[in-house]
Amino acid sequence: MDSLPLQLLLGVGSVLGVYTIALELSTEQLESFLLGIGIGLSVFALGSVVTSQSYTNKTAEKPRSERSIKEAGPPQTPHHVHVLSQLQDMFELSTSQLQRIVKQMLWDMNRGLEKDNEAIKMLPTHVCHLPKGTEAGSYLALDLGGTNFRVCVFTLDGKGGVETRQSKFMIADAVKTSEGAALFDFIADCVKQFFVDHQDTLSNGVNHKWKLGFCFSFPVNQVSINEGSLLVWTKGFTASNVVGENAVKLLQDAFTRKSLNIEVSALVNDTTGTLMSLAYSKPSTCAGMILGTGSNCAYIEKIENIIKYKGSREGISEMLINMEWGGFDDTHIVIPRTKYDYKLDSDTPTPGTWTFEQLISGLYLGEIVRIVLSDLADQGDLFENCGASPELKKKNAFETAYMSKIEIDNSHDLIKVKQILEVQLGIKHTTLIDRRIVKSVCALVGTRSARLAAAGVAAVVTKMNKLATPGCIVGIDGSLFELYPNYQNRMRSALVEMLGMCADNITLEQARDGSGQGAALIAALAEE
Ligand code: BGC
Repeated sequence: MDSLPLQLLLGVGSVLGVYTIALELSTEQLESFLLGIGIGLSVFALGSVVTSQSYTNKTAEKPRSERSIKEAGPPQTPHHVHVLSQLQDMFELSTSQLQRIVKQMLWDMNRGLEKDNEAIKMLPTHVCHLPKGTEAGSYLALDLGGTNFRVCVFTLDGKGGVETRQSKFMIADAVKTSEGAALFDFIADCVKQFFVDHQDTLSNGVNHKWKLGFCFSFPVNQVSINEGSLLVWTKGFTASNVVGENAVKLLQDAFTRKSLNIEVSALVNDTTGTLMSLAYSKPSTCAGMILGTGSNCAYIEKIENIIKYKGSREGISEMLINMEWGGFDDTHIVIPRTKYDYKLDSDTPTPGTWTFEQLISGLYLGEIVRIVLSDLADQGDLFENCGASPELKKKNAFETAYMSKIEIDNSHDLIKVKQILEVQLGIKHTTLIDRRIVKSVCALVGTRSARLAAAGVAAVVTKMNKLATPGCIVGIDGSLFELYPNYQNRMRSALVEMLGMCADNITLEQARDGSGQGAALIAALAEE
């Protein structure tokens, strides 16, 4: 019975929340919303049965103090409670703030579908069909744009099954920031190495006439399925002479230089690849999302809504859109930014751009934490016994992986946190209070990321008009979603806060290593 008031709150919250978002929708979409709300309220009337199954651990908007105590562990000294509460004010996003973010994202999505160069680019992918599951054959795929570069061969069995062979390669920063031809030569050399690694098990070797899907996870203005120019580098890549150029040609030229008999049949974003690969076995997949080194989303849009699309529309009813949501709210209209976010942004190669991605993705979260900790130490609020170490002052010294390890440490003395701070970061002597503060900072930064990602999901599913009916699968790949403790729960809680019972219609599904496989599938479809 305790849960009934909570459910009442959620019911009302969901109506208000959904209503707020619905203000931007078309009549058709609004009808579905009202249907959804009707369903939601009927289910609500069923009372505690649903509540106990679905919502017992989920939060409606909570007062700040309640959240802070949970994240921070046992109370600190009054001064430290004050420091933490100031940080909470900066980093926490309330339900109503999230709902405003969803509304703004929907607005920006529509603008991006109308015109080029909008905040959310909404790039047509030229992928107009989901796989049927009957595609068959062996295809090469390259996956460039995450932490590692991967070369793969996927053998599709025509029944939804796939056999994979792959080699992973580290890309040194020197290669990412070199000259474009050097980067593409490196890629071609890795492909050669792949065939050496797998010569005993691949039936076709390097001399076979391979078709290749190139998963190039950057914003690309695509003019056909195998032609598109890079709009801007992201995620720390800066290789020269690539922006504005056709990425397929650059790759094809490198293959020619290295005497490789490979035809690049498809150019694919990782979000598109993720959607396609999950759809191969789960046809209800409607969006593909990356929550890893970078962040972005692709979804299925009706062709008549893609107003700016200039290609032929004949026989096409839908097309996948690569949103490139990293550029959302670069003008800071809806998402509150902290002084730490500004500092992080000012140290990137292209300040003022891709700032939504900076708040969400793995490439940046550890660095935000480092900047906060270093500032707290400078203010005398942290590491009072020993001050910050030279290591803590080094850019990118605090890895996002540390955040996961810190957040999962529930030992009484926070032993793992101590080890990371003292061994990895060279801070000489930490107190338990120091460690609790560090853990709370990680929780604040990690939670903000998950809640913003959830706002993105809410916007995309709303845009597709799929909130009111069950069965919309959002395939998500990337280390944050897969490995970061509590990330998935935090996303779900935020979805329930924003959408109430409609959140139950959305399935967030892990899509492991889907981008390369999706690129291979798109190469297969391009042949048909
Ligand atoms: C890129 C996107 C990509 C995302 C995830 C972003 O930096 O702009 O194209 O999908 O990272 O890899």
